[in-house]
Amino acid sequence: MNIYFAPLQGYTEDTYRRLHHKLAGGITEYVSPFVRLEHGGIRSKDARDVRPEFNEGIPFTPQVIAKDETEFRTLVDYLSSLGYRRIDCNMGCPFPLQARHGRGSGLLQHPDNVAAILHAMETYSDIRFSVKMRLGQDDINEGLQLIPLLNAAPLSHITLHPRLGKDQYKGTTDLNAFSTFAQAIAHPLIYNGDVRTLSDIRRIETLHPNLEGIMIGRGLLARPSLAAEYHSGTEWEPQRRISLIKQLHEGYYESLSHIIPGEAQLLSKLQTFWDYTDESLVDKKLLKRIRKTGSLRNYLSAIQEIR
Ligand SMILES: Cc1cc2nc3c(=O)[nH]c(=O)nc-3n(C[C@H](O)[C@H](O)[C@H](O)COP(=O)(O)O)c2cc1C
Repeated sequence: MNIYFAPLQGYTEDTYRRLHHKLAGGITEYVSPFVRLEHGGIRSKDARDVRPEFNEGIPFTPQVIAKDETEFRTLVDYLSSLGYRRIDCNMGCPFPLQARHGRGSGLLQHPDNVAAILHAMETYSDIRFSVKMRLGQDDINEGLQLIPLLNAAPLSHITLHPRLGKDQYKGTTDLNAFSTFAQAIAHPLIYNGDVRTLSDIRRIETLHPNLEGIMIGRGLLARPSLAAEYHSGTEWEPQRRISLIKQLHEGYYESLSHIIPGEAQLLSKLQTFWDYTDESLVDKKLLKRIRKTGSLRNYLSAIQEIR
């Protein structure tokens, strides 16, 4: 089974992707956090993240978020001009700022706009598109009704996170709805949502042996070795997992300290590295100090205490 690294705005940017690919591996494809428009142009932070020279040598696909065909074309034309021939289209982001404006999971409530975006894909014959989506915004029928349109579109695959947009990340993923979708969808399908352990991967694999793969976000941030462990067929000892996390952090610190000028800014960005860390791996009190300290010096000395 292929393992894909899910995009998380603020976490899986170019620096993290490069380091993860180099030090942990096991990933078939890293998808970028969505590239979006701001004041009619490409948001500058996103433009930086997808610069080809920052993503060279890693299996990488940029993602766009659009509310209609016009936004979609602007974003795709931009990525195409950078040389990208693989683009993922977000139809699943539940953040109200996006969903309320008909983007992400909000787009699923506008079948005409979905249809226009999928038709637009047909006009880019040299680009392979995929879609990452939820079951719907308010109701799973929103997603199910789109299946004929999706099946007719030239997609390489679909990634489905089986929750509704309105539920954000609450409750559990809806495996029954995922199965219903899987039976009806003609494209290769990737499962995404709440996968944290090797047994979670195996459970999905057993339920759906024909999947194209599994996409993992928070589970990989918590345990960056998860994909490598899966491919090797054995769980790593906690010590080996911690050692990888420390190596990743060292590289992260080294890279970010060249990019982020102010100490306070650098510290708060570094602290996000620990937001999803598996709390069974690092002492809870120590993790709390790392996450909360206001001083870079104290932060770095706390990191040294991780065993
Ligand atoms: C903070 C945060 C940022 C996210 N940013 C994106 C994004 O830019 N694009 C996207 O498709 N999904 C985004 N997601 C959703 C994840 O890619 C993924 O679908 C979700 O976290 C469920 O998978 P997981 O349980 O393996 O983390 C984001 C999720 C979180 C929590």
